[in-house]
Amino acid sequence: MKKKILIFYYSQSGELYNAVNRIIPESVRKEYQIDYIKIEPFVHYKFPCSWQSFFSVFPDSVLQNTRPNKKINITPNSDDIILLCYQPWFVHPSIPFNSFLKSEYFSEIITNHKVVLFSCCRNTWINSLNIVRTNILENKGVIISEIIIEDSAATDLKSAYNYIKWFFTGKKSPFNDLIDANKKNIENRLHKVLIENCAEKQINLKTHPRFAYEQKIVRYFTKWAKFITKSNNTTAKKIKLLLFQTWIVLALIFLAPIIKFLLIFKKNKYEK
Ligand SMILES: Cc1cc2nc3c(=O)[nH]c(=O)nc-3n(C[C@H](O)[C@H](O)[C@H](O)COP(=O)(O)O)c2cc1C
Repeated sequence: MKKKILIFYYSQSGELYNAVNRIIPESVRKEYQIDYIKIEPFVHYKFPCSWQSFFSVFPDSVLQNTRPNKKINITPNSDDIILLCYQPWFVHPSIPFNSFLKSEYFSEIITNHKVVLFSCCRNTWINSLNIVRTNILENKGVIISEIIIEDSAATDLKSAYNYIKWFFTGKKSPFNDLIDANKKNIENRLHKVLIENCAEKQINLKTHPRFAYEQKIVRYFTKWAKFITKSNNTTAKKIKLLLFQTWIVLALIFLAPIIKFLLIFKKNKYEK
């Protein structure tokens, strides 16, 4: 009987699902049976979505509040490989994926299993990888590969604009080109890890050039999320969320370049 790869995924637009489908090489498909298991939240996160619904998930994403998913009734065999596909929402694992991480059955799926992590996103993924990684290690999973497809070439403002446009219209997905550009390399990595059994070294997040920048974003976002959720009154919450939306647009234009400059300056000063 073939060994199995169990792919757990949530995909709002379908792009993360397409991405994982496209990066599994033929050699792996021949060797393993591949089963897809959908993470299904009870709340439907629409795609394309409106400006309001895009930002409405901000506080829960950042504060890592869970929302119920449909129960997954799967007990993997001991030699099954677990492939987890997740996406960052506001620099944290998305609400459906985070709720899966925190579910009572997550431990049963992960414990003592080899795990491959896969994410395909804009360009801020360090904090969410750190959170996902911590959850897996706490549940005694063994991470053998961490694969991130990111839009590293784009500047913050330009990439934010392209993604937001795609999210609001559903047209011109930025992911196709990204996957094409990374496909060969990822196929080779998966072949090495899954066929030749060579585990990869974990990414050193703390030395990543964007680590300090993302940490700053996390601190700002957490303050905003707490400020928004402090009010019980719906109107007050809406006004605060509106303030946050104004802040984030201004921050992307003015604050992000300044923070980046200061962090590069600080790094150079220490390295001298
Ligand atoms: C509400 C929301 C917030 C997002 N925040 C981030 C983010 O912080 N960093 C990032 O790189 N991508 C971010 N993205 C892009 C998603 O990670 C990207 O859309 C996703 O990987 C595609 O997955 P899907 O198949 O679920 O649509 C965000 C998307 C949404 C909808």
